[in-house]
Amino acid sequence: MRTIVSMPGDGIGKTVLPEAIRVLDAVGFEANYVHGDIGWDFWIKEGNALPQRTIDLLAEHKIGLFGAITSKPKEAAARELDPALRDKGYVYFSPIVGLRQHFNLDICIRPCMSFKGNPLNFIRRTASGFEEPLVNAVIFRQNTEGLYAGVEWTNPPKQVRDALETHPKMKFFKDTPSEDLAVSTRIVTRKASRRILTAAFEYAKKFGYKNLTLCEKPNVLRETSGMMFKEAREIAKNYPGIELWDTNIDAQMMWLTKNPESYGVIVAENMFGDIISDGFAGLVGGLGFACSANIGQEVAVFEPTHGSAPKYQELNPSIVNPIAMILSACMMLDHIGESEKAGKIRGAISRVIEEGCVKTYDMMKLKGGPEVFKHGASTTQEMTDAIIARL
Ligand code: NAI
Ligand code: MG
Repeated sequence: MRTIVSMPGDGIGKTVLPEAIRVLDAVGFEANYVHGDIGWDFWIKEGNALPQRTIDLLAEHKIGLFGAITSKPKEAAARELDPALRDKGYVYFSPIVGLRQHFNLDICIRPCMSFKGNPLNFIRRTASGFEEPLVNAVIFRQNTEGLYAGVEWTNPPKQVRDALETHPKMKFFKDTPSEDLAVSTRIVTRKASRRILTAAFEYAKKFGYKNLTLCEKPNVLRETSGMMFKEAREIAKNYPGIELWDTNIDAQMMWLTKNPESYGVIVAENMFGDIISDGFAGLVGGLGFACSANIGQEVAVFEPTHGSAPKYQELNPSIVNPIAMILSACMMLDHIGESEKAGKIRGAISRVIEEGCVKTYDMMKLKGGPEVFKHGASTTQEMTDAIIARL
């Protein structure tokens, strides 16, 4: 039997992850779940939000389900640390970013699919009225490099400044003192570009998408976007049934509301992928529906896009939407060759949404709080129960 590392983390992560496991059990997926410590409690008690024992568990079992973590600014983090650990050099870092780096989880997949009948679906004005395009886009975001690689300086050291000065375009900045100069680099490697593009083409082939769009800006970012584009054209030759499209990130954001239903698989660098995946998620229901996978060569971690929503963590019964977490569990099933079970769960979610009787507060466009039940909102657990009942 498979072992899954279950890492609820903080806040509503602790609420939604057990709901996903209830659904996995109900669909007949047999697994052992081992608990992985991660998040704020472990920062406070141990000075490490990502304890080595959790890394070891993932290294052993390869597959993780993750809820959400709470991150706080540097000073707040230092204040909350156990007094016995203060001033000993402990520094807070985000454990999910830590996991992505440690296991080189370089491929981030964020499907954005509208469910028929979801009151949060995007609608578009037409000549004669309104229409509701069904969006089915899957964003492949490079997760480890690009503009978020973290290679940046304010007041760059002399060697860096000197190296930059070798570029003719630096003439424009020649009178700017280094202390008034901030530089963030956008680093793209051929290897990581090939990995994400190949993964995206394979996904398109497996799930029957007819086009793959590289969403970059090669006319301006000639080197980094340019390298990704060149690799895309090479790799596309191996996938004759899938058309390679390219769009510029800025134009793509404009087209988002014009023809989102035209797009299938979309590939982008880290920051552009961050932007485009939030854009598409907004068309299909937002954070209550946005699921994701972080996939490396050995380890994969599946998580909703949302955070720990601390303002709702104490509410009992809970109001938050478990669907983003449950859809993330479906992505896990796809990844380990259990697509049939994933399909069943997605089908059950579709039916619950289309029937429209069970809705969490976000689906009713209510302001969150305990009074949402008075307006007919369902609890987190009622939503899960409804999904299980339709399995
Ligand atoms: P958030 O995603 O936790 O919440 C933003 C708002 O989205 C909430 O107030 C709520 O209205 C809504 N929301 C989120 N999840 C929902 C759900 N399942 N159902 C219905 N509505 C939902 O982001 P926020 O408030 O900016 O950050 C809170 C904490 O989460 C911070 O400490 C932040 O650092 C952390 N965070 C963690 C992430 C992760 O674990 N990957 C990602 C984003 C934020
Ligand atoms: Mg984001």
